[in-house]
Amino acid sequence: MDVLRPGLANYRGLLLLQCAKFFGPPLLLAHLVTKTASLSPLAKAAVYLAAVPLVAAVRDKLDIWRNDREAARRGAKPVPRLKGKLPGNLDVMMYLVHEFENGYLLQAYQDLLDQNGVKTLNLRLMWSDLILCSDEGHVKYILTNGFPQWIKSDRFIRAFETFLGHGIFNRDEDLWKQQRAMARPFFGRDRVRDLELFDAHASEALRALRSSPLPPGASSANERALDVQDLVGRFMVDSAADFLFGAQLDTLSRPLPIAGKAELGTKGSKTDDEFGDFVQAFEAAQLRCIERINERWMWPIGEFFNDKNKDPVRIVKAYIEPFVQKAVEEEKGRREREEPFDSETANLLQYLASVSDDKTIIRDQLLNFLLAGRDTTAALLTFTIYLLSIHEDVFRKLRAEVLSAVGPDAMPDFETMRNMPYPIANESAVRAVLNETLRLFPPVPTNQRGTTEGEGSVLPPTRPGDDPLYVPPSTDMFFFYIHFQRNSELWGEDAMEFVPERWIEKDKMKRYLDNPMIFLPFHAGPRICLGQQLAYNEASFFMIRFLQQVESLELASEFVPKGAEVPADWKNAKGRMGMERVWPKTAITLYVKGGLWVRMKLRE
Ligand code: HEM
Repeated sequence: MDVLRPGLANYRGLLLLQCAKFFGPPLLLAHLVTKTASLSPLAKAAVYLAAVPLVAAVRDKLDIWRNDREAARRGAKPVPRLKGKLPGNLDVMMYLVHEFENGYLLQAYQDLLDQNGVKTLNLRLMWSDLILCSDEGHVKYILTNGFPQWIKSDRFIRAFETFLGHGIFNRDEDLWKQQRAMARPFFGRDRVRDLELFDAHASEALRALRSSPLPPGASSANERALDVQDLVGRFMVDSAADFLFGAQLDTLSRPLPIAGKAELGTKGSKTDDEFGDFVQAFEAAQLRCIERINERWMWPIGEFFNDKNKDPVRIVKAYIEPFVQKAVEEEKGRREREEPFDSETANLLQYLASVSDDKTIIRDQLLNFLLAGRDTTAALLTFTIYLLSIHEDVFRKLRAEVLSAVGPDAMPDFETMRNMPYPIANESAVRAVLNETLRLFPPVPTNQRGTTEGEGSVLPPTRPGDDPLYVPPSTDMFFFYIHFQRNSELWGEDAMEFVPERWIEKDKMKRYLDNPMIFLPFHAGPRICLGQQLAYNEASFFMIRFLQQVESLELASEFVPKGAEVPADWKNAKGRMGMERVWPKTAITLYVKGGLWVRMKLRE
């Protein structure tokens, strides 16, 4: 093993090495100075104390000088650097950590970019480069042409290692390539069109909705109030487990959070049962990963004696362990019986068990796919229903369209789903509403990459008069799909508004057709989402079934658990923040804090 590069899970070893690199040279220098000069004990102590910041400052300057020189050599400019008030831009870091907890969805990053009049900015946090990027052109470059120089990188992977381990989201280069090649056949055209499977779980979700108790203050027997985020989360986890592992989790038959009684969970509302514990742990693990990212290289200090993701991940793994165990045993039986492996009918889990005996690897893969399958599409459905609940006109038009194209009870087929006009007959109504939701509320609103240890990367100019920007090797970048998907320069003056017609009317579609890279909810390039078609199919199907049953829809803010109310001062804010009637947040994927509580009138 390379002793200077501890294993990905060994963050403690890495921290010790970093400390040795950071403190070693100044302490050695101080030792030499105090050995050669005759100093009082007080002066000696002062030399030791001063040596650390002094050497850090010299290193900082050297680092910047070296990078500026390399930028010039490559005909580029360095990415503009932010100058904070405190050393290491500690004030900026504290501001970002505060806003992550209390602020509006990733607004703090947009504000920093706007205040500096740029779309790509180096925060230079804690003396190391961290680039923020809301420039769609730069993002396009790093995901496509610049792909070989822009990887997930060890720095990010370590923060996710306890949770995602060997899974597809947490590996680069060959290990990632193998997994992608292995998974791709499971997302083929026929597999992602399993309407029977979608219908079984959608029917179960609507049954759970109908059988939920009458809410406090109900004016008719057909009224229901529910945390829709919880409902669609269950629909998605049941569908994903069925689709990927052939497992029946039946989470929709367990108790749902009750209007007026629900408490605030890690993200949404919570229930006290085995599934509730799994969800809380699954979400706590995601949240901790993101907190680690925000704490930069310092997170291992706080977790030196205690990996804060160990407990949540133990609960999550215990929940899926029986499925892995069963698949491994079945595979053993198949081999003993010398039956051929049927790749046509096998699900992903059966396939994994056929190519690996390592239960840890199988479980990690499963967990990654469960995250991909549940949280993203559940976020899409949650925010679609949120936007419909505050845009009654769109709700009415869409419902009328669904009823006329599919009828009140029939199961939709693919042709009908694709051809529902809204209001002009060239695009599916449901698809337009889903796309507009994905634009305003991309389920994965931000992402991250880092340059390799090689040569760094030069970001080509994206607007006339811009310079190419040089990014040094081993540098991290956060980029924000959400910012450019809401940018009025790209989408027009109504960029913050919910306008599904944008995806239908030819003149409005032009902006997107001229530059499709301004809409990247599913990412782009070699790591583009594998589940895109599956997600569209499942979400379209669910929305049609939901609209067949639900006659009216409105927010029920009175049931939002304590601590999740929209902050009162948002009302006066500009842009979406001023429009929001729920508190959108993100931890890997988007969610509504406290859950999306809506009051619905169901069809007789
Ligand atoms: C609305 C729903 C969805 C959205 C918005 C979405 C978005 C994304 C994004 C942004 C990425 C890139 C992640 C990264 O850079 O690490 C991604 C990757 C991926 N998605 Fe999705 N996704 C959705 C649904 C799904 C579903 C339902 C599945 C499958 C069950 C899935 C499977 C994957 C996989 C396997 C990758 C990894 C690709 C790779 O690294 O090569 N996604 N998705």
